[in-house]
Amino acid sequence: MICTVVGARPNFVKMAPILHELQRRGLPHLFVHTGQHYDQAMSGVFFDELSLPQPDVSLGVGSGSHAWQTAGVMTAFEPVLLERKPDLVLVAGDVNSTLACALTAAKLHIPVGHVESGLRSFDRRMPEELNRVLTDHLAELLFVTEPSGEENLAAEGIDLARVHFVGNTMIDTLERALPAARKLAAWERFNLPRGGYALTTLHRPANVDDRAAFAGFLSVLESLAGELPVLFPAHPRSLRRLETWGLAPQEVQLIPPLGYLEFLSLMSGARLVLTDSGGIQEETTALGVPCLTLRENTERPVTISQGTNRLAGTDPEPILQAAAETLADPPAGRRPERWDGNAAVRLVDVLAEWLARRV
Ligand code: UD1
Repeated sequence: MICTVVGARPNFVKMAPILHELQRRGLPHLFVHTGQHYDQAMSGVFFDELSLPQPDVSLGVGSGSHAWQTAGVMTAFEPVLLERKPDLVLVAGDVNSTLACALTAAKLHIPVGHVESGLRSFDRRMPEELNRVLTDHLAELLFVTEPSGEENLAAEGIDLARVHFVGNTMIDTLERALPAARKLAAWERFNLPRGGYALTTLHRPANVDDRAAFAGFLSVLESLAGELPVLFPAHPRSLRRLETWGLAPQEVQLIPPLGYLEFLSLMSGARLVLTDSGGIQEETTALGVPCLTLRENTERPVTISQGTNRLAGTDPEPILQAAAETLADPPAGRRPERWDGNAAVRLVDVLAEWLARRV
């Protein structure tokens, strides 16, 4: 039996097509939600819109410091593993729940599979980078989304026989949802012209937990708003910072976080996306929508070499320069290899073969 784990918003999007494929093939599995994200806006709406089954087990861990959250997930997950004894624990991405569950399983000698393995920003100040590196070194099966994943894992001495380039399950979800998202025409709800607005998200600690850094980004958005409407659906972390510091960007439409379909709809109709998210770099590449990444590095280089993404850094002037250039001359990208809507099928093929070899 396979135990699939989700914890935070991006996990739901990556794991949904895998769960559906496991269900379609009638493969026994146990679905665990750690509760890292727990609100309707951060979790519930994704379950509804992605037709995720209700979790078999909810650990209900919630928010806290990194150590508290990671330890809390481990302590709550261990008895589940001891009782249910799965053949493999499948984790996704790079959030605290990913590492916590991988480590708990590995210590109990339960093999771990890692979805979206091998990505590296080479920036160890990012909590996600630590989670990725450690999870990869605990995993028995490593599923990569882009060629850099294989290169990075090989450079770290991981045997490539355990690495499988299956593609991107987040794009499977996008493919499935895109017709409904387009039909939703979410830009109308915000009075935005299709193809004529900028959409932005910011939530990385390095960008929003520092007042000067956050204020710098807001000044960029205010300048941009002089040229085209700017919509900013903000993560709870960012909303809290804005409130604490009394920051209120002028002319920018600031709204609470959105569900999956509405956000996908808005991305598909945007002229420009500015973000510090990992997944949005990939989704805009799949949609062919120009994206400026407000970071100094990316762990997803294929979105730059082949897609529509550009690293714009974190200083206001170069970001505005990059925005002006992108608006004047939008990049023409193409879909990376195996971002074709069938990654979960390939991944479950590998899982099924692995399970068959064990019995
Ligand atoms: C986490 C991931 C990040 C991912 C992001 C997506 C880690 C280290 N980071 O960051 O990689 O991009 O999720 O959203 O795992 N909160 C709510 N409601 C919720 C959940 C959280 O209001 O349902 C608030 C809490 O105040 C909490 C804060 O958001 O303190 C941060 O949540 P947390 O799960 O610690 O990390 P994220 O910033 O969401």
